[in-house]
Amino acid sequence: MTPRSTVTDEPDTSVSLTAASGTIRPSPETSTTNWTYNEQFPGPELRVQEGDVLSVELTNDLREETTIHWHGIPVPNPVDGVPNVTQDPIASGETFTYTFRAEPAGTYFYHSHVGLQLDRGLLGPLIVEEPDPHVEYDREYVVVVDDYLPGEPRLPSDRGMGGGGRMMGDVRPPYEGLLINGRLPENPQMFDVAEGERIRFRFVNASSATVFGVRIAGHEMTVTHADGQPVEPVDADSFVFGAGERYDAVVEATNPGRWFLQADALDGNEPPARAVVEYESTGGSGTPQSPSSSNNRLQYGDLRAVSSLDGVSGRPDRTFDLTLSRGGGQSYTWTIDGQAYPDADPLNIRPGEHVRIRMTNQSPVVHPMHLHGHFFQVGNAIKDTVLVPGHMGQVTVDFHADNPGRWLFHCHNLYHLDAGMARVVRYVE
Ligand code: C2O
Ligand code: CU
Repeated sequence: MTPRSTVTDEPDTSVSLTAASGTIRPSPETSTTNWTYNEQFPGPELRVQEGDVLSVELTNDLREETTIHWHGIPVPNPVDGVPNVTQDPIASGETFTYTFRAEPAGTYFYHSHVGLQLDRGLLGPLIVEEPDPHVEYDREYVVVVDDYLPGEPRLPSDRGMGGGGRMMGDVRPPYEGLLINGRLPENPQMFDVAEGERIRFRFVNASSATVFGVRIAGHEMTVTHADGQPVEPVDADSFVFGAGERYDAVVEATNPGRWFLQADALDGNEPPARAVVEYESTGGSGTPQSPSSSNNRLQYGDLRAVSSLDGVSGRPDRTFDLTLSRGGGQSYTWTIDGQAYPDADPLNIRPGEHVRIRMTNQSPVVHPMHLHGHFFQVGNAIKDTVLVPGHMGQVTVDFHADNPGRWLFHCHNLYHLDAGMARVVRYVE
């Protein structure tokens, strides 16, 4: 099997992004210096048609190195954006061009893959439109959910906490709020709808350390895609997603009024992130209503991929049993099978194999585990990021080794990743 070839076709879409320090305004009263793409936060929405060749020229105007990773898209290995694994990091003042074919269709995002830069604001949505969606809708909105950290992110050990303190548990970064599309709840985005419409929401959890529960007051959601991939439509009044996961849901606008679309941090006590679903008929007046408590929360077991993943039926050719845990000792580390990346063995696989990864979470906190370069099957869903619950939670994923290279497999809690919870999945002949 040859590596997914580097794309040399003329791009259908060319975009320039500049990473630089800039001012963001999550509410009229709040502004802070963050890092941004093209002075926007979240970064500009990139939107292309499935199969298009997308070329992104990234200019690094930061004072440190950076890269971009195209989260969820099985790109050719050299443009995956993992520093020192798939490319040399892009030095300050330098430019690097990422070119790849945007497929399959889905809701994705892009973000820096260097250190803790994602939590400084280097992220943006990436939408690959399907030619022929399996569900009907009249309009769509992208909903980027995030945690808000003004200033420089630091590992707990560098913040003078964590360390030896709470050995098994975790320390939450000092977030000052929760955001939808870069806005604090006192400054909510309005999603205009007209009665009778069907609205597709594309939800992206672009946070660095937050598991969110999402609800829309007054409305049921029909979940149509998990991590961008189509599922048999399934109704739910809420879903939970971790850093790096995405869901698309279609909502029927049959209940005129003004309603909060709300994302609560399951593991934090900041006020919930909010936007407002506003029917035209309200003329923009009236207090938005809050969602009531959920009694039909989406479970992974509810998800059925519309088409199955090739190469993962029957017995696996190779199985990894991996434990996820907090490292011992005084420093803040998170480990996979006792090893903290980069001092960790690669997981060697061969092209064409059906690979199984069984994870057992020996820590009390949830880990959103993400695999680069491939989708995996989990239950009947096809995803690229999956929550492994704490307290001995177990999750098994299966993937087909069809994209040779060196691919990161890691926890998408950025602080866990930075503290070692990663491995390289390496193709060997
Ligand atoms: Cu969002 Cu290593 O990825
Ligand atoms: Cu983790």
